[in-house]
Amino acid sequence: MTAKKVGIIGCGTIGGQLALAVDAGSVKNATLVSLFDVVQGSAQSLKQKLRTDVSAHDDFEKFIATDCDIIVEAASQDAVRKFAGRVLESGKDLMVMSVGALADGALRLALQEAKGRIYVPTGAIAGIDAVRAVRHLLESVTLTTTKSPKALAGAPFFQASRIKLDEIKEKTTVYEGPASEAVRMFPANVNVAAVLSLAGMGFEKTTVRIVADPAASTNQHEITARGSFGEFRFAVSNAPSPGNPKTSYLAVLSAIECLRSICDDGMKIGS
Ligand SMILES: NC(=O)c1ccc[n+]([C@@H]2O[C@H](COP(=O)([O-])OP(=O)(O)OC[C@H]3O[C@@H](n4cnc5c(N)ncnc54)[C@H](O)[C@@H]3O)[C@@H](O)[C@H]2O)c1
Repeated sequence: MTAKKVGIIGCGTIGGQLALAVDAGSVKNATLVSLFDVVQGSAQSLKQKLRTDVSAHDDFEKFIATDCDIIVEAASQDAVRKFAGRVLESGKDLMVMSVGALADGALRLALQEAKGRIYVPTGAIAGIDAVRAVRHLLESVTLTTTKSPKALAGAPFFQASRIKLDEIKEKTTVYEGPASEAVRMFPANVNVAAVLSLAGMGFEKTTVRIVADPAASTNQHEITARGSFGEFRFAVSNAPSPGNPKTSYLAVLSAIECLRSICDDGMKIGS
């Protein structure tokens, strides 16, 4: 089987770890071919950590002209809006990490109609395979995210709210509403809510609850789903990744695992 040629947009925490994993041979049937980052020198400095001779770009036109089968976006929502269509139209497949961008229905539809295939890793949560399996039987899906007040600081929700994060002394639910609104009010939490919405009942019917807990040292996400199939709950308590406290280490590992599953023709475990 010929190895899939991989390109990466975004050479930060996720892109960097993914590149190192492919470079080390941890992703069977994958070869790293090119890197792109909008910040000058970022792709070049990641290239210097690799054994593979990849091309490094800060110019998207040069990057997209390289011969890749699949591009991994590990950059930003803005990068998805700007480049995802171009990647797919060029016949390359795309793995999206900044999933929050797909809350925009018009963008989502346009990308789904393009030539290449879109892959969305499960990211910083678990249980997405089960949510997908029962999606037609779901009656309710709730995501409860618990973070320290510090980790929630800066969310647009608090600009118009009477809740003052620095006055919270015990575990407090600060928000409950549909994922469509939550992704705007809490953009830093957008990826998990977006993955869950895409897998299950959509952005309008998925409920998001945000809890501020001064005692929380990890980012916790719990999915509760109910329907005629029964009920399930999945909970994760995520350590931050070594390079970026905002990105859970599980998200990095999930990106690597998703690429493994795409590139390896062997046995697939899970859906
Ligand atoms: N799906 C999930 O569960 C999940 C979890 C964590 C993070 N994420 C998302 O994945 C993305 C990457 O996360 P990270 O921790 O690696 O971030 P990071 O900040 O460590 O790295 C992002 C890199 O992308 C580059 N970049 C930003 N915008 C760009 C653009 N328009 N074009 C090219 N390069 C650009 C930056 O210069 C930076 O080097 C973020 O959008 C983040 O929200 C998703």
